[in-house]
Amino acid sequence: KKIAIFASGTGSNFQAIIDAVKAGCLHMEVALLVCDKPGALVIDKAENEKIKTFVFNPKEFETKVSFEKEIISRLQENDVDLIVLAGYMRLIGTTLLNTYKNKIINIHPSLLPSFPGKDAIGQAYRAGVKITGVTIHYVDEGMDTGPIIAQRALELSGEETLAEVGQQIHEIEHAFYPEVLQKYFVEKD
Ligand code: GRF
Repeated sequence: KKIAIFASGTGSNFQAIIDAVKAGCLHMEVALLVCDKPGALVIDKAENEKIKTFVFNPKEFETKVSFEKEIISRLQENDVDLIVLAGYMRLIGTTLLNTYKNKIINIHPSLLPSFPGKDAIGQAYRAGVKITGVTIHYVDEGMDTGPIIAQRALELSGEETLAEVGQQIHEIEHAFYPEVLQKYFVEKD
């Protein structure tokens, strides 16, 4: 199975997926990184790992349709059959959604449908919830709204700092994303 990872930032989830592939725990090939933020740290990670990249600046395109068409041609060139969003800070448009129906998944750092959108960890922390976690879901036209594939919970005592909660959430993500990819998109496919 060939995947493309879409990311805009640090790329710690990108790295976790690559590491799982290298360790033999995830039987996929990361064929391409798609990044909408020139200069993002994830690009350095891809270069270190010798992963192909398509980096673009959305401002240099007239419309979302035009840059998504460009993305699709890169995906097709690389025989990508699953799109894995990992901190891609942009809504997927109908051009990509229609071409990759039920083949785009995302990870979100809360138990959806609670706390969609930006800063989900901070939102949950400030709400004082005693259980939060991580959700992996199919992507639709909404913001963090598609059908849920899997979730993992994290219990909070209320004594943690926001930074500590963030660290625990990221640890869960880094183990959970490769596991879910393997279980649902390699073994059950
Ligand atoms: C992760 O918390 C992910 O759940 C969210 O964006 C963050 C990306 O972090 N969608 P990184 O770039 O993988 O380090």
